[in-house]
Formats: sequence, C-alpha cells, structure tokens
Amino acid sequence: MTQDSSGVQNAGAQTWSAERYARNARFVAELGSPVVELLAPRPGERILDLGCGDGALTVQLERAGASVVGVDSAPDLIAAAQSLGLDARLMDARHAASQLLVIYQTVLHWMLQPDAVLVGVKRALKPGGRFVAEFGGHGNVAAIVVALLAVLARRGIDGVPLMPWYFPSDQDYRQKLEQHGFVVRDIQLIPRPTPLPTDMAGWLDTFTESFFRPLSEQDRAAAQAEVLALLRPVLCDSQGQWTADYMRLRFAAVVAE
Ligand code: BEZ
Repeated sequence: MTQDSSGVQNAGAQTWSAERYARNARFVAELGSPVVELLAPRPGERILDLGCGDGALTVQLERAGASVVGVDSAPDLIAAAQSLGLDARLMDARHAASQLLVIYQTVLHWMLQPDAVLVGVKRALKPGGRFVAEFGGHGNVAAIVVALLAVLARRGIDGVPLMPWYFPSDQDYRQKLEQHGFVVRDIQLIPRPTPLPTDMAGWLDTFTESFFRPLSEQDRAAAQAEVLALLRPVLCDSQGQWTADYMRLRFAAVVAE
C-alpha cells in the first residue's frame, strides 16, 4: 500500500505479496463473514470494496448478487483478485469513489488519516448509502505491539512513530462517523483471539515490515527471534499453536438522508 493525499493508504507500511498473504493471512477473509452479513448485500446493488486485497471477501459479495468493484493499491493482490474473475482495479480510493451506492471495507486500520478517509467515503455515497466495515480496534494485537516496541527499545529506537496502524475505540470512531454526517446503526468492539494458520513469524513477515525497517539486514532475524521469544509464553500454546490477540471494530452506518 502507498500513501495518497486522501489518507486512504498507509505510506510504504508493508510490501504486499499475494502468495505470502494467502499463506499467512487467509483468515482475514475467512473470518469476514459477519461483516458481510452486517452489510447484507442485495442483488443488483453496487458495492465498492475498498482495499479488496486478493479478492477472497469480494467474491462473497458477488455471490450475493451485488455488482462489486474491488479497489486496492497493491499490484500483486489486484492481479490475484483479477484471476478470480473479479472487476478489481489498481487505483486509490479517491479515484474509485464515485456514484456508488454502498461501500464496504476491511483495511481501515492501515489508513492513518481517518478524517480524510471519511470525507472520501461520504463523497462517494448517495444519501441512504451504507458504509459497513470491520477493522482493528482499540487494543488490537496489543501484546504483539508491546513486544515489537520492547525489542526496538533495546536497540535505542522509539518504535511508536513506526506504528502503521490506527486502532480506535468504539466511542472514538462513533464520534468521528457522526462528525462526518453518518448515522451509526451499530458499532461494537469485539475481542477475537485468532489462531494463526502458520505461525507468529509468518504473521510478523506479513504485517510488521515498518517496525524492522530501521534495523540492518543482519539484525532483523535476531530482532524477530527476540519478539517471538517475548510472545511465546503468552500467545503460543503447548501444542505450538499461535493465537494473535485481535480486537475488531465492526460497524454499520448510513449517510443521513
Ligand atoms: C490484519 O489485517 O489482520 C491486521 C494487520 C495488522 C495488524 C493487525 C491486524
């Protein structure tokens, strides 16, 4: 993902590989069914799937009979989505967001300028248009973040400015939605401990590049091993199963008519 002035994507936070994402993070789409249910797509509705990634969730929207355009800024993920036969476009959300009725998205936690995002979404929706999403909420992956910050602190690096994510509380995000002219129908912060299909090293490779960027190539493997050593007692069970401490913020809002 890359940054644009709408704040829709997050500056070089991560390099996106479709193969790595499918291997380590397929659960993101697999666990997305509740938000599809909350969106309740209707046949013929036009949906803009912002940050559609490799299209695994976009396919579920199409199956419901909606007409979906998926948008993402990661070329490798867009190619994967197109290979599923989806209308998936490599572009930033500012250009995509026009004349569409309903918007759905899952990657809001990568967008560090939430007000700019909400301005863009509001512009894209007609009165009555729905904005439904689920993303990382307050306290998301807290143990993982603390371990990353601790390992960087050992090296004299303040990792807080390297954090590529926005994890608001339900109260904070409700207030933001209302300030931008949305009526909030439902908003919930949901603890969702998430068993990882591979392991924590795979999760770190997939999502935490920005924390390791200040380190030399030689030091990165050692730093990752230290993060794993800190996390193992709390996130890995006796069978070797890793579980990430996810908190999800799920909401449905409409543009006031
Ligand atoms: C996710 O998309 O699952 C995710 C990414 C970064 C931090 C937490 C969750």
